[in-house]
Amino acid sequence: MNDPNGLIQWRGRYHLFYQHNPAGAFWGDIHWGHAVSDDLLRWEHLPIAMAPDPDGPDAGGCFSGCAVVDDGVVKFVYTGVDPQVCCLAAGDPDLLTWTKHPGNPVIAGPPEDLGAPGFRDHSVWREDGHWHQVIGSGIADRGGAALHYRSPDLIDWEYLGPLLSGDRAESGEMWECPDFFPLGDRHALVLSVLPEKRVHYFAGAYHEGRFSPDRYSRLDLGAEFYAPQTLVDDAGRRLMWGWLREGRTVDAQIAADWSGAMSVPRILAMTADGRLTAHPVPEIDALRGRHERFEDQALPPDEDLRLPGVEGDCLDLRVEIDPGGATEVGLRVRCAPDGSEETTITYTVTGGALSIDRRRSSLDATVERDLESGSTGLPGGTPLVQRVLIDRSVLEIFPEGGAPAGTRLYPTRADSLGISFFARGAPACLTRLDCWQMNSPPVA
Ligand code: FRU
Repeated sequence: MNDPNGLIQWRGRYHLFYQHNPAGAFWGDIHWGHAVSDDLLRWEHLPIAMAPDPDGPDAGGCFSGCAVVDDGVVKFVYTGVDPQVCCLAAGDPDLLTWTKHPGNPVIAGPPEDLGAPGFRDHSVWREDGHWHQVIGSGIADRGGAALHYRSPDLIDWEYLGPLLSGDRAESGEMWECPDFFPLGDRHALVLSVLPEKRVHYFAGAYHEGRFSPDRYSRLDLGAEFYAPQTLVDDAGRRLMWGWLREGRTVDAQIAADWSGAMSVPRILAMTADGRLTAHPVPEIDALRGRHERFEDQALPPDEDLRLPGVEGDCLDLRVEIDPGGATEVGLRVRCAPDGSEETTITYTVTGGALSIDRRRSSLDATVERDLESGSTGLPGGTPLVQRVLIDRSVLEIFPEGGAPAGTRLYPTRADSLGISFFARGAPACLTRLDCWQMNSPPVA
C-alpha cells in the first residue's frame, strides 16, 4: 500500500481506501484497496474498490483522491494517469461497487501555461452552494502549487487560479496530496512536498476564496510519514492517516511480501498559537496490556537509565521528563543488549526540536539509517510529555502539543527490545513513565 484515499465515515463505519498494487509488494499498476472498521482497531479487508480501466483515462493507474457525499451518494474524485487527469466515480450504498463517470476525465489537465510538473491528488469541499477542490501541482521554475477549481456538480469544473503557490527554494517543486480544511478558527493546507518527500502545512485565514497563511511548518518530523489525508468523523473529530513508507529495499519488501503501512489514526488540533498538533485516537488505548509505572526516577547526565519490565517491540509509552538544567533529554528504543542496535529519540530542551537517530538502528546496511530532526513547535523550556508507540517496524512519536513523527525501524536482532532514558548536560528527572505492552486487537 501507499497513500490513504477516500477516507470517510459512512453509515457509522470507517472506510479506508488506499493506493495498492495487487500484483505484489512493490509500486505499480495502482488500484484502490479497501478496508473497513467499526472501532478504528479491527480492520476488515474488502474487495478492491477500483481498478484501472484499459480503455479509460485511468488506464495507467487510479492515483490518489478523496471521497465526498453528493446527494446521498459517495463519490470519489481521483487522478487517472497517463496523462494525469481528474476523474469521478460513484459508489453503491455499501461502497463495494464503483461506477466511473462516463464523461471522464472531468478535468483533462492543468492550465497549459503553468508548465506544471504534475497534476494529481484532490481535496474537495462544499462552499457557497458549490463544490470546490484543490489539485496538487506546481508552476515551472517557481514552485509547488495547489490549483483551485469550482463546480456546480463535480463534473464541470472552472479553474479559479492557484489557491496557493510556493517558492521552490522554500517549499519544493511539486505539491502532492493537498488536503485543505478548517480547524479551529483557521484553515490548514497539508502538502506532501517533492522532491523532499516530507509533509508540511500552511495555516492561516481563509476568507472569500483567499487563503492567507501566516505559517509554514513540518506536519510530521519522521522520514517515513507521507501522503496523509483527513476526514471528519461523526463525533466531529478531524482524523488523519498517513502512509508509513518503507525504509528497506524493494527486494526486501518483495521478499517480505508486504510493503507500506498506515499510521495510527491521529486526531488533529490547532494550538492557541496557530500550529497543527496531533495525538493518537483514544480507541487505541484498548490495546493496552501489562502495565508498569515509574515515578521520579533520576536521570544523571550521560548515563542511560533502564527500568525493569520496560522493554518490547509492541509498546505504548507515556514519558514525562522534567529537564531541570539538561540541554537534551530522551530515550532509546529497540536497543540490543550490547548496544549494537539502537534508535535514539532526542528532545532539545532549549529549542523544542526532536531528532530521531536511526544511524545505528539496524546492523543491516541496506536499510535507511539516518538522522532526522525538526522543530516540534513547542516553546523552549517546555517539559517533555510524549507518547511513543512501537509496533515492530513502526515508530510513532507524539510530543504533547507539538509536531509528531512517524518512521520505520528494522533491527536485525530478535533481542533488540531494550528501552532506556537519558539526559545530557545536567541531571533531569523522569517524573513519570507509563509503559504498556501493546496487544493485538481482539478478534471480532
Ligand atoms: C504520493 C503519490 C501521489 C499519487 C500516488 C500514486 O505518494 O505519488 O501523488 O497520486 O502516490 O500512487
